[in-house]
Amino acid sequence: MEKDIKGYAYGQVGQSPVSIADLELLKKTVLFTEEDEKNLRLAGEVLKDQTNEILDLWYGFVGGNEHLVHYFSKNGQPNMDYLTAVRARFEQWIMDLCNKPYDQTWLNYQHEIALRHHSSKKNKTDNVDTVPIIHYRYMVAFIFPITATIKGFLTKKGHNIETVEAMYSAWFKAVTLTVILWTYPYINKNEF
Ligand code: HEM
Repeated sequence: MEKDIKGYAYGQVGQSPVSIADLELLKKTVLFTEEDEKNLRLAGEVLKDQTNEILDLWYGFVGGNEHLVHYFSKNGQPNMDYLTAVRARFEQWIMDLCNKPYDQTWLNYQHEIALRHHSSKKNKTDNVDTVPIIHYRYMVAFIFPITATIKGFLTKKGHNIETVEAMYSAWFKAVTLTVILWTYPYINKNEF
């Protein structure tokens, strides 16, 4: 249950510096429509009992790459408690991306997650002592693996190709939108 997830603070964080009006313009720019919202809800149904396997795949990717597991590490040693704590919030994020309305509360939590990847707040939630920031370049680079790897899971519940493609596009747009919001702390003032 979401309320039991350690460090998960949806609805309990500060205000995003990005306005709802700017979010609407970003949605327009990535061609995110009400149709995408419906397809994301469907994706949520399809993915809800597969989140553990999705995380196995994503953590396999991170764990298999020294330059990525680095961000969960101190002096080259991965912090297993940190990996485990983040994993539970990551699973919840899959459901939130698909099911939550993209309103002020959602926008605020995107900013919180942004801060948690950035030096502003990395390590603080789990009270750990690993490297202080996830570098900007990998935030953007992750859009592709987080998108491409979801397709196989979207095909698992017998939907036709058109429906799978529609869910996949909606997911891609949602991840793109999310990562844009997560890069806010990395960008110079007035340049976001
Ligand atoms: C935290 C997803 C990029 C490493 C998180 C969380 C989520 C997430 C959902 C937990 C948020 C919460 O606290 O509620 C993503 C997505 C990414 C991305 C969707 C890009 C598409 C990266 C990259 C790395 C990374 C490139 C580097 C390996 C971490 C770490 C944390 C974290 C270390 C814990 C931060 C903390 O100390 O609070 N990520 N992430 N993430 N992610 Fe990412």
